[in-house]
Amino acid sequence: MNTPCDIPALQLSERSFGLLRSLFEKETGIHLRGEKRHLVIGRLQRRLEQRGLHDFESYCALLQQPHETQERQHLIDALTTHETYFFREPAHFQHLREQALPNLETRPLRIWSAASSSGEEAYSLAMTLADTLGPDGWEVFASDVSACSVWQAIQGLYPQQRLDNMPKGYLKRFCRRGQGVYTGQMLIHADLRARVNFFRHNLLADDNKLGEFAVVFLRNALIYFDATRRGQIIGKVVRHLRPGGYLYLGQSESFSEPLTSLEYLGGSIYRRPSCPAIARST
Ligand SMILES: C[S@@+](CC[C@H](N)C(=O)[O-])C[C@H]1O[C@@H](n2cnc3c(N)ncnc32)[C@H](O)[C@@H]1O
Repeated sequence: MNTPCDIPALQLSERSFGLLRSLFEKETGIHLRGEKRHLVIGRLQRRLEQRGLHDFESYCALLQQPHETQERQHLIDALTTHETYFFREPAHFQHLREQALPNLETRPLRIWSAASSSGEEAYSLAMTLADTLGPDGWEVFASDVSACSVWQAIQGLYPQQRLDNMPKGYLKRFCRRGQGVYTGQMLIHADLRARVNFFRHNLLADDNKLGEFAVVFLRNALIYFDATRRGQIIGKVVRHLRPGGYLYLGQSESFSEPLTSLEYLGGSIYRRPSCPAIARST
């Protein structure tokens, strides 16, 4: 197999593949199946070249050195899948605006984009809130296990063609066209960027400092986990959802595990009952 640039693909032995998989699983909770071997080679080959390494055995030895924390973070950045775009699954933003926000009276309203990738989902939420509620009384928090994605999100700089789904009015109101070296890119307005708090967070970790949220978007991340881990993640996330709060999962994510403590509203949207007595199975 050759890479797109016709550099012969490196060989990845069973042993090295096993090591990369277990390291990645330890850091993210995601189990890579055997058929992902070519994906692993494709996504890491350039990194080996950058580090001046000629085989995966040397890369694995490097990753195991205690001080190579950044390289282990690089492994996470490379092997997680970050596909996302502005106003993905627009029905969720419509539901948030028209159904959820009118029911949520607590201020400040805290919203969490819990696997935010490069930030498009979090900025879409911030635009929706700024438009619906005005400049005050809300806060957006956004996290991801990939440090590189969090860094990209904080920059808030996106190629113009990635903004295709954004309502035209929002484009004008919340984005600035890049000039000079930034031609072809759009920058999210500083005011809006300042309203979104990005941070690195592993969904399988506990973080009591996160506090409670009125709305959690946990979309298109659970599909990468097995049933046990999905259950653990949902349990942890629901603990941060306040009574009466809304949870949005990806629309293509339908799981056999019941979200028993939540009321199902359809369209992959759940609500935590205000009073536990009215919780019902979904
Ligand atoms: C496909 S993106 C989804 C982005 C966005 N929520 C959306 O729907 O467009 C999945 C994200 O989940 C993140 N992720 C994977 N494992 C994670 C973990 N254990 N904790 C937090 N984020 C994780 C990945 O880094 C990736 O950015």
